[in-house]
Amino acid sequence: MRNSIVIRPVEAVSRNTLKQLLKIEHACFPDPWSPAMFTVSGTEGIILAENPDGTAVGFACFQYFLNECHILNIAVLPEFRKQGIGQQLMEWMLTELKNAQEFYLEVRENNRAAISLYQALGFQPIGKRRSYYQDGETAIVMHKKKKPELFGQ
Ligand SMILES: CC(C)(COP(=O)(O)OP(=O)(O)OC[C@H]1O[C@@H](n2cnc3c(N)ncnc32)[C@H](O)[C@@H]1OP(=O)(O)O)[C@@H](O)C(=O)NCCC(=O)NCCS
Repeated sequence: MRNSIVIRPVEAVSRNTLKQLLKIEHACFPDPWSPAMFTVSGTEGIILAENPDGTAVGFACFQYFLNECHILNIAVLPEFRKQGIGQQLMEWMLTELKNAQEFYLEVRENNRAAISLYQALGFQPIGKRRSYYQDGETAIVMHKKKKPELFGQ
C-alpha cells in the first residue's frame, strides 16, 4: 500500500465537509471555487482523500452522465503531495464510475504537475481553450477513453 489514505465518495456536503473542501481549495488555487460550486447531485460527485483520522487532505469533483465523465477539479494539500494521493483520486474515478468510458478535463497549460499526472494515466491533449481561466491563461483539454472490459475478465 502506498499510504494510509482512504478515498471516500461524499453523499451530501455537510458544513464540516464544506469547511475541509474550502481549506484545500484555498491552499491549492489562486482563483478558488466558491462554496456554492461544491455540490453533489445525481450527475455531480465529490470524492475525498482522507487520513485515517477522517481529515481530508485532497478531493476531486466530477460530472458524470451516461458514459462520460468530466473531471472538474482535483487538489491535494501541498504538504501531502508526491505521495500518490492525486493518482489515487484519479484512479477512483477511472475505476469506480463503472459506466464512464470517456473522461475529459481542462488543465492550465503551465501546470506541469497535473499534466504529468494525467499523462501518466493515459490522458492525451485534444485541444485548447484560450483565456479559459480568469487570469487569461489557456486551458489544455485532455481526454482518455477506457478500453472496454471483455466479458469473463
Ligand atoms: C496535481 C496534483 C493534484 C497532484 O497530486 P499529488 O498527490 O502530488 O500527485 P501524485 O503524488 O499522485 O503524483 C502522481 C504522478 O503525477 C506526476 N506528478 C505529480 N506531481 C508532480 C510534479 N510536481 N512534477 C512533475 N510530475 C508530477 C508524476 O508523474 C507522479 O508520479 P511519480 O510520483 O511516480 O513521479 C497536486 O499537485 C495539486 O493539488 N496541485 C494543485 C491543484 C491543481 O493544480 N490541480 C489540478 C487542476 S487541473
